[in-house]
Amino acid sequence: MTVTNSATSPTKSPVIIREGKISDGKALNAYIRTIFETTDHLITRPSEFKMGAWRQRRWIAQKLMDPVETCLVALADGEIVGMLDNWTDKRGRVTHATCFSMSVKKGWRCKGVGADLLGHFIQWVKAHKRLTRIELHVHSDNKHALALYKKVGFELEGTRKKAVFYEDGRVVDDHIMAFWP
Ligand SMILES: CC(C)(COP(=O)(O)OP(=O)(O)OC[C@H]1O[C@@H](n2cnc3c(N)ncnc32)[C@H](O)[C@@H]1OP(=O)(O)O)[C@@H](O)C(=O)NCCC(=O)NCCS
Repeated sequence: MTVTNSATSPTKSPVIIREGKISDGKALNAYIRTIFETTDHLITRPSEFKMGAWRQRRWIAQKLMDPVETCLVALADGEIVGMLDNWTDKRGRVTHATCFSMSVKKGWRCKGVGADLLGHFIQWVKAHKRLTRIELHVHSDNKHALALYKKVGFELEGTRKKAVFYEDGRVVDDHIMAFWP
């Protein structure tokens, strides 16, 4: 399914949102590496991200073939400046629930790109009748992300206390939030 900005786009932002293509593999791989290098609030550290461009292309191909998973990219003048991907447990009792992760490149944050990506993802989920629950994990000190999720309507369901240890000694909780589109 292709998604692009349109008059019915849930929010306005200066980017085009579409599904990732296999040909995005190299650029997406470089984008993800940059995100891990420039963001505090994710678990994976740059040295732990081992995927190269070839495996990234295969990863995108798998998303494209999976009926309940996707990878959305936000493009500004052809450059990837944002990304959102989801994953779904295929076991029957929980296959209605899908989890996602998202990011926007430094320099492009606070311009509505994150809200636009999330809005497109919610539309994508609504078009997939099997999916009725969207869930996410967010660190308790990630004020910006928490503000975005609350604004969209995600509810706090629970907290894993002291779940994440930062290298500088800070310890934060992991919030679990959910939304029923
Ligand atoms: C979280 C993230 C994806 C948000 O993307 P973004 O493009 O900056 O978000 P938006 O500009 O769409 O902002 C959406 C809402 O977030 C809130 N927000 C925006 N800037 C903010 C700021 N500086 N401080 C607090 N809240 C802010 C507002 O509620 C805003 O809505 P509004 O503009 O209508 O007031 C982005 O900050 C990011 O990539 N962070 C690093 C990776 C990360 O933490 N990912 C999430 C892991 S759970």
